[in-house]
Amino acid sequence: MKADLVIHGGTVVTDASAFPASVAVKDGRVLSVGAREAMPEAAETLDATGLHVLPGAIDVHVHFREPGYTHKEDFGTGTAAAAFGGVTTVFDMPNVIPPTGTAEALAMKHKLASEKAHVDYGLYGLLGEDTIAHVPDLVAGGVIGFKLYMGNTFGNTPSPSTGGMLEAFEVVAPTGKRVSLHAETASIMARREARLRAAGRKDPLAHLAARPAVVAVEAVARAAILSEWTGCRIHVLHISSAEELRPLREAKARGVDVTGETCPQYLLLGAEDYGRLGGVIRVNPPVREARNQAPLWAALMDGTIDMIATDHAPHIPDEKVRDDIFTVDCGFPGVETQMPLMLTEVAAGRMSISDYVGWTAVAPAKCWGLYPRKGVLQPGADADIAIVDLGHHWAIDDRKLQSRAKITPWHGRAVTGLPVHTLVRGRFVMKDRTLVESARGWGRSVHTIQEMPKPELRNPDSTMTAIVQKPDGASGVAA
Ligand code: NCD
Ligand code: ZN
Repeated sequence: MKADLVIHGGTVVTDASAFPASVAVKDGRVLSVGAREAMPEAAETLDATGLHVLPGAIDVHVHFREPGYTHKEDFGTGTAAAAFGGVTTVFDMPNVIPPTGTAEALAMKHKLASEKAHVDYGLYGLLGEDTIAHVPDLVAGGVIGFKLYMGNTFGNTPSPSTGGMLEAFEVVAPTGKRVSLHAETASIMARREARLRAAGRKDPLAHLAARPAVVAVEAVARAAILSEWTGCRIHVLHISSAEELRPLREAKARGVDVTGETCPQYLLLGAEDYGRLGGVIRVNPPVREARNQAPLWAALMDGTIDMIATDHAPHIPDEKVRDDIFTVDCGFPGVETQMPLMLTEVAAGRMSISDYVGWTAVAPAKCWGLYPRKGVLQPGADADIAIVDLGHHWAIDDRKLQSRAKITPWHGRAVTGLPVHTLVRGRFVMKDRTLVESARGWGRSVHTIQEMPKPELRNPDSTMTAIVQKPDGASGVAA
C-alpha cells in the first residue's frame, strides 16, 4: 500500500511517552506509526528531524465572532490563528448575533464555518432560559455541546435563573451532551460592579474587585448540585481561582460527570500585571492574584482540572484601550499563543511534553466523545498533527498574529517552542509558518463523529416527568 505522506525523523508524543518514530498518513488518517524501515512508500515525505510530532491541540473554548462581530474575527481568520498555533480542532461559542440558540442560527453558522474554516470545529448551542425548548432542534442541527452563561460577559447573554438552569439540565441530560458553564454568579457581580462604579472606581483592578473568587465558588457548587441531581454532564470553563477547586474536587469525588479547563492567562499572569497591561488584561473571569497559579498547576497535575483551553476572545485595540475599565471589552485572542506559552513551561521543566499532550489533545477528545478518532496519533486516528520545534526561542509579536484582533497581554513575551507545520486530516493547513490558502473550507464539523457514552439519568420522577404524569387516582381535573 502506498501512503499519501510519511513524516520521518521526528519524536512522536502521546500522553504517556515520547519516542522516535515515523508517521504514515493515508486518506486523512494515520496509517502507521513506527520504524522508518517499516513505513510504506509514500507520495510525499516530510523531514521532521529535530522536531516533535504531537496530536494537534483541541481548543474547546474559542469565540470566532461570526456572524455579528466580524470586525473582531471570523471563521477564516480565527481558524488561521488556530493553524498557526498547532490547534487542529476548535469549539466555537454561541455569543454572536444572532446567538446560536435556534436551528436557523445554527444552520447559518454551520454554513459560514464550512466555507471558511482551515481546521475542524464543533459549534456550541446556546442554553438559556428561552432556548430550552430548542434543545432537540439544536441537537438535530449538529451541536458539539451547549453553553450556559451563569454570569454576565461579552454579548450580554442573560443568565438563566436556577430554576431555568435545572430545567435546562433535565432536558439536555438524556441527549448525553455536555453543558459548558461560564461559572460566575451574575447577581453577585452586578451588585459589586454597581457599588464600585458608584464609588468612582474605574481603574483596572476594579474589574478584579467586581468579580471576587466567591462568584466562581458559588456558581461551580450550584452547577454541580444541579448536574448531580439530573445526571447532566457539565464542563467548567476558564477556572481562575484556587477556591473554586474545592467544589470541583468534591463534585468529582461524588461521581458527578464534571470536567474543567483553565487557560494560560490564569496560569501565567497575576494581579501585578494589571498596572502594566491596563484594559488589555480585562477578561472574564478576571486574572487573579498570583497566589492562585500554583494551586491551578497542582490541579492540572492531580486531574482536578482536566485540560487547557484558551477562551480566545478577540477584540480590536479601540475596544481594549479605554480609561474606564468597566467600558473595556472583556477577553483577548489566545488560540495562536497557547502552544508556545505552554511549551515554554515544558522547556522550563514545569510539566512534561506528555502532560501537555494529555491536557490539550487527549482530555478534550475524551470529554467530548471524539477519542480515539482525535487526540492521539495511532493507526485509524485522524491525521491531525502539530509538528513543533521545542527549542525555538522567539518573542510573541501581536502585529504578526493571524487573528483580526492584534492586541494581547502576551506582546513581547519571550517563549520557547514553535509550531512549524500543522496538518488537519492529513492535509497541511500551515506549512513552514505559512498559511495554506487552499485549505480554507477544509475544516469540518466534528459533531458527526462524536460518540458520547450513554447518559445516566438521575431523579427523572421528580423532574420534568413529574410535570406530565398525574399521580395514581388523580382525575387530572382541578378541584
Ligand atoms: C468572552 C468574549 O469576549 O466573548 N470574553 C471573556 O472575557 N472571556 C466571553 C466569555 O467567555 O466570557
Ligand atoms: Zn466565558
